[in-house]
Amino acid sequence: MFNASLETLSATLKTNLYGPLLLAQELVPLMKQQHYGRIVNVSSGMGQLSDMEGKSPAYRISKTALNALTRILAAETRGFNILVNSVCPGWVRTDMGGPSAERTVEQGASGIVWAATLPDDGPSGGFFRDGQPIAW
Ligand SMILES: NC(=O)c1ccc[n+]([C@@H]2O[C@H](COP(=O)([O-])OP(=O)(O)OC[C@H]3O[C@@H](n4cnc5c(N)ncnc54)[C@H](OP(=O)(O)O)[C@@H]3O)[C@@H](O)[C@H]2O)c1
Repeated sequence: MFNASLETLSATLKTNLYGPLLLAQELVPLMKQQHYGRIVNVSSGMGQLSDMEGKSPAYRISKTALNALTRILAAETRGFNILVNSVCPGWVRTDMGGPSAERTVEQGASGIVWAATLPDDGPSGGFFRDGQPIAW
């Protein structure tokens, strides 16, 4: 935290927050026209305020902010059959997660696919792992 650079903070927010926000600005008007949309913000347990720890401040703050974006988007799309949720894939064996991670890519992706294919009466504005709600 004490030696986190503004460059790292800025680059991380650009990737993890501004990217999804700009994409939503482009796509949500089209989704509203169609009266259909599913938005999955791939978040992380490291962004949970209820379990906030030290280290990796840029990443943590970017995911907490992404979760805020989920809530804002869910509120602004209510009534349009657009469901917006945050999903944590768990600790997954990718380039980022590394070889020691406990979950396969398929396991990590399954909760994301679940949120991307929700039925019309599915949840919006939630935070999930494996299809189950988790704390913000
Ligand atoms: N792996 C885990 O344990 C874990 C846990 C919790 C949450 N997550 C989240 O899951 C998502 C996927 O992560 P992953 O594990 O699949 O990581 P990964 O294997 O490291 O892949 C990250 C992807 O993000 C792309 N990327 C990075 N910076 C970018 C930028 N500035 N602009 C556009 N694309 C950029 C990379 O593109 P290039 O390949 O072109 O560099 C790569 O395709 C992330 O949002 C991550 O925060 C992962």
